[in-house]
Amino acid sequence: MPQKVTVTVIKADVGGYVGHSSVHPRLIDKARETLDKRGSNLLIDSYVATVGDDINLIMTHRNGVDCPAIHELAWDTFLACTAVAKELKLYGAGQDLLSDAFSGNVKGMGPGVAEMEFVERQAEPIIVFMADKTEPGAWNYPLYKMFADPFTTIGLVIDPKMHSGFKFEVHDLIGHKKVVFGCPEEVYDMLVFIGAPGRYCIKSVYSKTLGEICATSTTQRLNLMAGRYIGKDDPSMIVRCQSGMPAVGEALEAFANPHLVAGWMRGSNNGPLMPVAMEDATPTRFDGPPRAVALGFQLCNGNLVGPRDMFADKSFDKARQIANDIAQYIRGLGPFEPGRLPLDEMEYTTLPDVMKRLADRFEDVD
Ligand code: F6R
Ligand code: MG
Ligand code: MG
Repeated sequence: MPQKVTVTVIKADVGGYVGHSSVHPRLIDKARETLDKRGSNLLIDSYVATVGDDINLIMTHRNGVDCPAIHELAWDTFLACTAVAKELKLYGAGQDLLSDAFSGNVKGMGPGVAEMEFVERQAEPIIVFMADKTEPGAWNYPLYKMFADPFTTIGLVIDPKMHSGFKFEVHDLIGHKKVVFGCPEEVYDMLVFIGAPGRYCIKSVYSKTLGEICATSTTQRLNLMAGRYIGKDDPSMIVRCQSGMPAVGEALEAFANPHLVAGWMRGSNNGPLMPVAMEDATPTRFDGPPRAVALGFQLCNGNLVGPRDMFADKSFDKARQIANDIAQYIRGLGPFEPGRLPLDEMEYTTLPDVMKRLADRFEDVD
């Protein structure tokens, strides 16, 4: 049996600098230092990336998915970063670490997890996409475009290794169920669900021809709190590329026409997902607009050769311009939908209080 490699991305926001706009350099140093020191016997390689106020730990190893030691390493790294964030009194220090004690797996404890295990191919290009100020369902549209839309991915039409299509595992984050759709034959059924990204998220994609995993994303389940589902969590995903999977350029093309995602200010507004270079991954205007970055790596026996900052390319200038135009327009709507999210999807609300205060003033309509 050929040896397998696991790529694990675990992400959390453990303190923003300034406000929710970026990560302080000392936290990045602390994360690198902790992974190097504590991970020396566990990891093959690692890279610490940030998008907005989120730290993404990109790790490669031989321990498979859901490995307690790897999850604990990530947890301890975030704890070490939290200590620095507290020392600097950064904003929301430790906010994504929802528990005091680690219990074997970071799932459900706050951080987001995307990981996949596979046999490294002769050449193995991967892209780690990371977003801030949005939710896991934000990947539904680009994943659909990469793996099911022939207008984005011409390989679906003309590459014999892609022509029979892909399988999509879709999670219902509220019903806690999952279902697999074969595409293209079930595209219309699948779109009924993934077109509602606040509830249904594409977790993973598999090649029918190669029988291999091609993509996986962070999809935390939503929490029912105070009668509402909350838990917008800035998402990440790993996409394998080329040789029967979308070409690097096909995967990136899915971001050329910025789509509207839920999140932005107070997790309660719609905004365009702007593809940006790492140095521009600092959501500022109205705490946004939401950002996506893409780091490309060639795997070499599990080592991360890279990264290349894929959205730094000039060919994405137009997409950024469109995103800024959309942002300008939609901000003009202020507190009106669809600028603001529908009542049941907002992360912040004053409705119950206002309703209570005005209860006596509401009269029956004849
Ligand atoms: C969105 C986000 C920010 C905050 C906003 C208010 O995901 O993190 O837009 O919601 O800055 O933050 P607080 O309530 O902490 O003042
Ligand atoms: Mg934040
Ligand atoms: Mg964030």
